[in-house]
Amino acid sequence: MIPFIVLFFLLRSAFAVFVPWLDNDPFTVNDVQTYKMGFGLPPVLPPDAITDETRSLPYEGYIPDYVIDSSPLVHLYSEELYYPADISDFIKHFNIRTNNNSILKEAPLGLHDLASMIPASAEKNDSVLSEDTFLTALDDFDKDPRWLLGHKPDYGSGHIKDAPAVLIVVDKGNGWVDAYWFYFYSFNLGAFIMGYGPWGNHVGDWEHSLVRFYEGKPQYLWMSAHGGGGCYQYDAIEKKTHVRYGDTEPTSKILERPLIFSARGTHANYASVGQHAHDVPFFFSALSDFTDRGPLWDPSLNYLAYTYNGTVATPATDRERALGSEWLDYLGHWGDKQLARKDPRQKWCPVQWRYIDGPRGPLSKNLDRTGLCQRSKWWNFWGGCPARRSIKRGQGLDAEHNDLVGDNCGILLYRIRPKWLRSLVRLVMWRGVTCFMMDYFTG
Ligand SMILES: *[C@@H]1O[C@H](CO)[C@@H](O)[C@H](O)[C@H]1NC(C)=O
Ligand SMILES: *[C@@H]1O[C@H](CO)[C@@H](O)[C@H](O)[C@H]1NC(C)=O
Ligand SMILES: *[C@@H]1O[C@H](CO)[C@@H](O)[C@H](O)[C@H]1NC(C)=O
Repeated sequence: MIPFIVLFFLLRSAFAVFVPWLDNDPFTVNDVQTYKMGFGLPPVLPPDAITDETRSLPYEGYIPDYVIDSSPLVHLYSEELYYPADISDFIKHFNIRTNNNSILKEAPLGLHDLASMIPASAEKNDSVLSEDTFLTALDDFDKDPRWLLGHKPDYGSGHIKDAPAVLIVVDKGNGWVDAYWFYFYSFNLGAFIMGYGPWGNHVGDWEHSLVRFYEGKPQYLWMSAHGGGGCYQYDAIEKKTHVRYGDTEPTSKILERPLIFSARGTHANYASVGQHAHDVPFFFSALSDFTDRGPLWDPSLNYLAYTYNGTVATPATDRERALGSEWLDYLGHWGDKQLARKDPRQKWCPVQWRYIDGPRGPLSKNLDRTGLCQRSKWWNFWGGCPARRSIKRGQGLDAEHNDLVGDNCGILLYRIRPKWLRSLVRLVMWRGVTCFMMDYFTG
């Protein structure tokens, strides 16, 4: 194991040296210097750096049509148990508790009860930071109450009438616009390790994808998976042709919509079907996710839309105005606190507990980002987030085109031209074995 770890860090350091030439992260490549020299696209700006001159969108609360036209379609897993849920229904089954388990607000909750500060008691006139609170279920979630199971999409249209997605559009200046699609599920059924499990279950599950546009054209797609995620050039992603019928005018539009695949139980998102090792180094495929072409969900048929400017979320229509935007400021956990060690439902294996803390909501997901990734994992010391130019294929029985190692090693090799040079490099890298390992490590 130790030589492996040493090799890993050596490779990563070597890799880091080449990164400025290799990666396509707008954060590193589209920087001000190269743009001034006449190369590339202008830099992506964080919301607090946007001025009236650099603004991409006309006003707060404005959702451009192109954001909807290029919104992802989500293939849920064919044997999924926990489908998308409506946050307004979900929280009816919860109270708000502090870290020490005392009740701050009794059930049933409404979205209006959520805010950045939660009043502690009327008499004492104090309040608790939402960060320190947990939405805590009234029912035993271990017994799968009906509300935990969510709603299946309609066969055919992909519409889920009872579970809106949440869209948050962020102006990134200079023509750049980020569209964050949030997918909420009531429960995350964790992974199995060699047949034992599940490990890492939690109540409440926020997943998301980001489509980044430049002047109305989609450029990149990032999708969340276990705190990390997959990052792609938009063109690389599989598309599905979809007809959108006009609401007002009689014309219909034929759209090419990107496809993402939501993994069984964990709802982590991938760009292909099959088995996917978690992007955690040193675990290899012990922890895996599975995706396939199960029920297709079209979140663009039912969603709540907001824009966000780094401090304030602005509702797009009356539907969101009725719900308010304060619930987005709630930074507590959307699900129970990790079960106590002595709880009979809790179990432990050397890497994970069976039940862990519920996740935090949309505004905790670094929507101010200029790079494409939500964050770097601890082992990614160079902090890059290159967008892949080809799909990372899944493995195993469900995989459709199980491309062999060489083609799977996108990040490094496919940028090398001409082809003969690439083959040479591949040979030097022990016929792509190095590359194969690197792919495991970098996700
Ligand atoms: C965001 O919008 C709010 C309300 O319109 C405004 O007060 C605030 O200054 C804006 N923040 C930024 C960073 O533009
Ligand atoms: C629990 O936390 C609340 C608010 O933070 C505090 O008022 C209360 O005294 C605490 N209770 C215990 C038992 O520590
Ligand atoms: C409660 O706190 C707020 C803000 O700290 C203050 O303005 C208000 O006067 C307080 N009310 C009472 C009854 O103490």
